[in-house]
Amino acid sequence: MFIRTLLSALQLTAAAAFPSTRTRSLSLEGANKFTSSQWSDGKAKLNYKNGPAGQFSITWTPDNGNLVVGKGYVGGNSNQVVNYTGTFEPEGYAYLTVYGWTTNPLIEYYIIENWHPEHEPAAPPEGTEMGNVTSDGSVYLIRTKMRVNKPSIVGTATFRQIFSVRQDKRASGIITVANHFAAWEQAGLETGKVVGVELAVEGNNSTGRANVTIF
Ligand SMILES: *[C@@H]1O[C@H](CO)[C@@H](O)[C@H](O)[C@H]1NC(C)=O
Ligand SMILES: *[C@@H]1O[C@H](CO)[C@@H](O)[C@H](O)[C@H]1NC(C)=O
Ligand SMILES: *[C@@H]1O[C@H](CO)[C@@H](O)[C@H](O)[C@H]1NC(C)=O
Ligand SMILES: *[C@@H]1O[C@H](CO)[C@@H](O)[C@H](O)[C@H]1NC(C)=O
Ligand SMILES: *[C@@H]1O[C@H](CO)[C@@H](O)[C@H](O)[C@H]1NC(C)=O
Repeated sequence: MFIRTLLSALQLTAAAAFPSTRTRSLSLEGANKFTSSQWSDGKAKLNYKNGPAGQFSITWTPDNGNLVVGKGYVGGNSNQVVNYTGTFEPEGYAYLTVYGWTTNPLIEYYIIENWHPEHEPAAPPEGTEMGNVTSDGSVYLIRTKMRVNKPSIVGTATFRQIFSVRQDKRASGIITVANHFAAWEQAGLETGKVVGVELAVEGNNSTGRANVTIF
């Protein structure tokens, strides 16, 4: 079991080390329970601090750049229940989100818990509306969009993004990931094998700070 999760962590590291202008690292933390990952397009300026166990903090400033950092559950899958607490203070385009990928099909998924008010009433502003799901005390709007020739865990690829966007924003609580996967399937959005369940911060040409712990 341990070997298998370690292997999948290493595979993710290797696959994500593309292209060279982008950086991502993944390390096992605490009692081998959490992963830590950082991605930036090389333009975003960020100060990421990988804390003990499931804790991390970040401050970032804009330079026309995009970044995603966070802590994840080793061996996390679509049945993961995320338990987290923290602070999230963005200025501009940013999410506090459960984040990960699936393979076969290749999907980049988000369960967005919080975002900057300029993106009311539903972040992200783009994409096709696919209904909603009520989970963990709020309605989440479901959106999807295609990304064409964009960076992914298997290099540059064309893939679907799926978003559940919480309407009652928060920065702590429980997230029942399975409810979202079930709703996405029901909306006709096929998903595959989960690679990574992180609690992440994404910033796009924005400023902010966050300090988050997952349990
Ligand atoms: C980033 O934000 C600045 C200031 O709002 C804006 O001038 C610039 O066009 C933005 N860059 C991108 C890539 O959106
Ligand atoms: C979430 O984690 C905290 C800290 O370990 C714990 O006190 C709390 O009981 C957990 N909540 C749930 C619902 O598991
Ligand atoms: C959620 O979907 C239901 C059923 O389609 C619809 O009646 C309701 O208005 C939707 N709620 C929101 C907040 O979009
Ligand atoms: C970042 O913001 C720019 C300008 O709004 C947008 O064109 C781009 O798609 C965004 N990138 C991501 C990864 O969200
Ligand atoms: C982040 O939160 C943790 C736990 O509350 C705290 O120990 C730490 O000092 C905070 N770090 C920063 C940079 O605010």
